[in-house]
Amino acid sequence: MEFIHDFMKGYADWFYLIGAVLFILTLRGLSGPKTAIAGNRYGMIAMAIAVITTFFVADHPVIWMIVGAMVLGAVVGIARARTVPMTQMPETVALMHSLVGLAAVLIAIAAILHNNQLLALFAENGAALDMAGVQHAHMNKVHLFELFVGCFVGAITFTASVFAYGKLAAKKWAKTISGGWVKPVQAIIFLAMLVCGFYFFTTGNINAFWAMTVLALAFGWVWIAPVGGGDMPVVVSLLNSFSGWAAAGIGFTLENNMLIVAGSLVGSSGAILSYIMCKAMNRSIINVLFGGAMGGAAVASSNAGGEQVQRNYRSGSADDAGFLMSNADSVVIVPGYGMAQGRAQNAVKELANVLKEQGVKVRFAIHPVAGRMPGHMNVLLAEADVPYEDILEMDEINSDFPATDVVLVIGANDVVNPAAKDDPSSPIYGMPILEAHKARTIMVIKRSMATGYAGLDNDLFYNEKTMMVFGDAKKVVEDMTKAINGTGH
Ligand code: TAP
Repeated sequence: MEFIHDFMKGYADWFYLIGAVLFILTLRGLSGPKTAIAGNRYGMIAMAIAVITTFFVADHPVIWMIVGAMVLGAVVGIARARTVPMTQMPETVALMHSLVGLAAVLIAIAAILHNNQLLALFAENGAALDMAGVQHAHMNKVHLFELFVGCFVGAITFTASVFAYGKLAAKKWAKTISGGWVKPVQAIIFLAMLVCGFYFFTTGNINAFWAMTVLALAFGWVWIAPVGGGDMPVVVSLLNSFSGWAAAGIGFTLENNMLIVAGSLVGSSGAILSYIMCKAMNRSIINVLFGGAMGGAAVASSNAGGEQVQRNYRSGSADDAGFLMSNADSVVIVPGYGMAQGRAQNAVKELANVLKEQGVKVRFAIHPVAGRMPGHMNVLLAEADVPYEDILEMDEINSDFPATDVVLVIGANDVVNPAAKDDPSSPIYGMPILEAHKARTIMVIKRSMATGYAGLDNDLFYNEKTMMVFGDAKKVVEDMTKAINGTGH
């Protein structure tokens, strides 16, 4: 045992380096569906290396506590992972981030209390403690700063993530707040938090530390509570980033290089993902976080002033659509939020198979913000076992639309709205879209002419090449498959 301990301790930095490289490979793997499973495996190995090494590096580990916490965490984690439906993934992720935030706060509190104990011990029997102990007890400014940052970022992450969880899980207590009082209250709490934190940083006063922590917890709540439900995925991604920075801050406190590296990776990748999501939604991060309950309703209101003009569109039956598709050379399927809402992914896979059997080239086109969470469509299509090589990202497929016979839009709206390219007055102008309007024939499955998330009318539906097929996504797709198989009517 002694030998293993010495060996692990002696080579701890090397193990951490291997762990860090594996974490980088994890992120690289997770960037594409084909490599995601390998990415996940790298992550698991890296985490095991990190935990085991840290276990041996500790001077006096309280083994029963560590093992007990690990077993408890593993039991809860495995149970949740086995039972969580794909649709509840965003709130589960939010809940996990809240735990990272809470851990950062608890570690900061433990570090402060431990330090105060050392100081008290020194005051009682100064002679018994050597100079190293005294120096250790007097935290230097760098330590105080790390604790200050790690604790307040962690506290904000904790309550904001709990709220995001409640909002996404439609809990009654997670009510969106609005009104003129919100921004001043946010500003007052934020400034008070900074003042307390600064006082703690300059004086080491523990009461200032407690006040800062409580204010940061309150700020997390009032900061996120005004954000609309539709914007929560961006918030969750941003909180992911925050949880990483909190972990990195605490890594400095604990002098653990692995935690610093892993925290920074999570922090920066979360920040990049938030940026990509905002860009694909044509929103700024400031607008999402401080624009109040924007979401669909507020964007829609910018469109509400104009008069409702009756416009003509063409509609057809699932049978007609099935017939047209089975006679096409190429079909591109564009799934959107309606496919998720209607749980139509398996039916869609079946339709694609039947078309392929007829010799039709079938591919899927995925917009980065189709649906309501990052990777929403990829996850659903993977669940239905659609081959990865059939799934193309926006940049890969856009140039193919003009040569495509049929585009089948299933419950997508904003992500194929040509106004984003053609109409400078549109609130989504500038947002990159899937250029479905360039295909030879367009078919759109949705239940009505209602708007999507952004609350905007969509010229694609009135295009002379477009046929609307009204109904619930799953039912319509199943009817199309039956029609192609010759069992319809
Ligand atoms: P949307 O623009 O929201 O349109 C979805 C359409 O699906 C609706 O027009 C709706 O029309 C139809 N629909 C709903 N349930 C259906 C069902 N059961 N069967 C058939 N159709 C159904 O979706 P999108 O094109 O995927 O765009 C996503 C939007 O969400 C973008 O504006 C994006 O910015 C926003 N957003 C995305 C994310 C992420 S990360 N993905 C996060 C936040 C916000 P009917 O009611 O007429 O059926």
